[in-house]
Amino acid sequence: MRASWLQGVFILLLSTRHGQAHSWVEQLTVIAPNGTFVGSPGYSRGNVLRSEHGFSDTKMTHLIPPNTRADVNLILPTDRMCMDSQLEQKQTAGSPRLQAKAGDPVALRYQENGHVTLPWNQPGKPPNRGTVYVYGTTQPKRREKFLDVHGAWTADGTGGDKRGVLLSKQNFDDGRCYQINSGNISQIRKEKYVHQANALMGADMWCQQDIQLPSTAPSGKLYTLYWVWDWPTLPGKDPTYPKGKAEIYTTCMDVEVVAHSPHVLASASEGYVANQDLNYAAIPSQFTHLDDVSSSSATTSPLLSASASSIPHQPQPDSLTLSSLTPHESPSPSALNLDTTAVPTESVTSSATALVTSVPQGPQPTSTLYLTSTQVVRILTVTEWLTTEKVIEKTVTVTAGGSAATPVSRHRLARRRWRE
Ligand SMILES: *[C@@H]1O[C@H](CO)[C@@H](O)[C@H](O)[C@H]1NC(C)=O
Ligand SMILES: *[C@@H]1O[C@H](CO)[C@@H](O)[C@H](O)[C@H]1NC(C)=O
Repeated sequence: MRASWLQGVFILLLSTRHGQAHSWVEQLTVIAPNGTFVGSPGYSRGNVLRSEHGFSDTKMTHLIPPNTRADVNLILPTDRMCMDSQLEQKQTAGSPRLQAKAGDPVALRYQENGHVTLPWNQPGKPPNRGTVYVYGTTQPKRREKFLDVHGAWTADGTGGDKRGVLLSKQNFDDGRCYQINSGNISQIRKEKYVHQANALMGADMWCQQDIQLPSTAPSGKLYTLYWVWDWPTLPGKDPTYPKGKAEIYTTCMDVEVVAHSPHVLASASEGYVANQDLNYAAIPSQFTHLDDVSSSSATTSPLLSASASSIPHQPQPDSLTLSSLTPHESPSPSALNLDTTAVPTESVTSSATALVTSVPQGPQPTSTLYLTSTQVVRILTVTEWLTTEKVIEKTVTVTAGGSAATPVSRHRLARRRWRE
């Protein structure tokens, strides 16, 4: 039943190139120290389950900029982080909040909806299928502004108005997830990541972003998470959007921080158990680097630190800049040809660091701020792999150890996969 319904969704996706089947965080689950999901799942604010009568994707998708805006690259300071149904810290019946301890690892799961397995349906999208960010705060605002958080809050908490932190930054494609369809990526992953179909996912494998709640999150209070999926269309790839297109989706969630775990947990020293049931398992590469977002801080762009330190003398065929004020030349048409062999895999590119170091490009200015008569407006700048919103004017000092964790051989492997 469910499978045929999903096949219907795919037919829809295939026939409408700009189909509206997008992604949001459908479930949050605590991860035990061995990498297994434990306890009862939690849900976003105002969640509408797919099984609910009258469900449609639009009930859960929040698009920034809205598709009514003439300039598809313009994000305004007034744009809100949360959709109307997620402004309040309220749950709907049947979709309770996650309960977790401070410091607990948590999996945020979402469906790929073909964005991973049918990449040719949307020309000009980044090969990692966009970047997902999770921000956390104990002081959310009801009308939280998107630009006050995204690109402002940093892993060390010193960014923007300092009310929150960047907890995680990953590829939308976690290297494992798929929906069942006839595309070759789905076919390959289905064989590689075998699992029992279950009531939640059907035969599909949901994507996930594994984060860790701050150990300082106060018990007995709510801790707010903002999930941001940055999925731009790059310039010069889709004739409809010669200058590219910003496309961002968010989900707003709260976690109830409890003093004592309701779960009986295995010993913390155990570590990720290999070959466990994939229906309940974290992504190993993310799970073992849960606190590794320091390279994403605003003062040292990961793009700069990783590319400058590990691949200083590469040519820069893949770099692109997108600005509605100063459009740059289109890249050479071959520069970004999507090659599905380049779909990130768990072993090679599922961590943001590995991903960045696999891209041959040097430091790029990554954004532009300009003034209109009344407001500051931020223009997104797009590179093949990353979208950031930082103005980089001063020289960034790169510490030599910054990406030492990524061995050169790994980097070469990733690049070879790209060029094949
Ligand atoms: C991991 O630990 C949890 C909680 O202690 C347990 O329920 C689960 O069975 C363990 N998973 C594996 C694969 O051993
Ligand atoms: C999958 O199919 C696409 C489109 O037909 C093709 O370009 C690509 O090389 C294939 N990838 C793999 C991994 O077989």
